[in-house]
Amino acid sequence: KGNYIVSMIEGDGIGIEISKAVKEIYAAAKVPIEWEDCDVTPSLINGRTTIPEPAVKSINKNLVALKGPLATPVGKGHQSMNLTLRRTFNLFANVRPCKSVVGYKTPYDDVNTILIRENTEGEYSGIEHTVVPGVVQSIKLITREASERVLKYAFEHARSINKDRVLVVHKASIMKKSDGLFVDTAKEVAKLYPDIKVEFELIDNTCLKMVTDPAPYEDVVMVMPNLYGDILSDLSSGLIGGLGLTPSANMGDHVSIFEAVHGSAPDIAGKGLANPTALLLSSVMMLRHMGLDSYGSKIEKAVFDTIASGTANRTRDLKGSASTSHFAQEVIKRLA
Ligand code: IPM
Ligand code: MN
Repeated sequence: KGNYIVSMIEGDGIGIEISKAVKEIYAAAKVPIEWEDCDVTPSLINGRTTIPEPAVKSINKNLVALKGPLATPVGKGHQSMNLTLRRTFNLFANVRPCKSVVGYKTPYDDVNTILIRENTEGEYSGIEHTVVPGVVQSIKLITREASERVLKYAFEHARSINKDRVLVVHKASIMKKSDGLFVDTAKEVAKLYPDIKVEFELIDNTCLKMVTDPAPYEDVVMVMPNLYGDILSDLSSGLIGGLGLTPSANMGDHVSIFEAVHGSAPDIAGKGLANPTALLLSSVMMLRHMGLDSYGSKIEKAVFDTIASGTANRTRDLKGSASTSHFAQEVIKRLA
C-alpha cells in the first residue's frame, strides 16, 4: 500500500481518458501514492454552486489533489466548478510555468517562463449586474490582502528557484486605482526582499514583447492580477505548442490542487485523441511539491522523450497520430 494519498478529480470529457493515462503511468512508475477518487458533481445550495461534502473532506484531509478539466455546469445560477474549487480551498496563487518542449518544434524554441496569477479576485469575483437593460456593470475587485499574499508568494518563489527579479505585470496606467493598488502593494512587498529586484511592465507591452522574443522572460518570475494571468498563460502556451503541454498549480496555505489548464474538449471526448501531457506535467509539479522529486523527474523525462520520438508517438494536437493510450504506453516504455 502507498504512503501518500492524493485526491483525484478526473474531470469531464477528455478528463476521463487523460486521468486514466496518468494512473497507468503512475502504476508503472511505482509512485508510492494511492488515488482517492472524488466526485465533484455540483449542486446548487442557497444559490451557490457547491462541491459535494465527501470531495471537500477528501481534499482537506489529503491536502493535495490532481484535477482534470471540469465543464462549467449548465443551468441558471451555476458558477464554474473550477473557480468554486479555487475559492473553496482559498488557492490564492496559480503557478503556471511554460517551457519549450525539446523535440517539438515551434517558431519559438527558447521559451522558459513562469507566471504567477492572483487566483481569487479581480474580474473573477463574479460580481456583475444589469443596471438597466443594455447596461451591465462588472466589478473588478482588488484588495491589498489578496495582492500582498500573491506578491509575497511570487517573491518567495523567485528566491526558491534562484531568480533575483520579479516582474509585476499590470495596467495601472488606466486602472489607476485597482491595478494601482496591486502595483503599490508590490512596491511595499519588494522592500521585504532586498535580494530581489522588482520591475513593472504593462500587460499589453508584455504580450507584444513575449510574442516577439520570449527569451528574456526566462530570467524573471512574473506576477499579475487574475485575468491578465489567465490571458498571458494561454499566450505563453501558444508559443510552445498549446494547452496540451502546460501544467498549472493552484496553491493555498494548506491545500494545493494541480490541474491541466485546458478544457474538457467535448468534441473529441471518448475518442482517444486527447493529449495527457498537461495533466502529467501538472502531476510532476505535484510530486515535487510532495517531495517525490525523483518520481517526478523520471515521469517528466519519459514524457519529453516520448514527444521527441516522433509523430507516431505524439497526439493529434502535436501533429501526431498517436492515441491517448498509445502515448501512455510509449511513456511507460521510457520510464526505465
Ligand atoms: C484556466 C481556465 C479557467 C479560468 C476557466 C476554465 C474557468 O481558463 O484555468 O485558465 O478562466 O481560470
Ligand atoms: Mn485560462
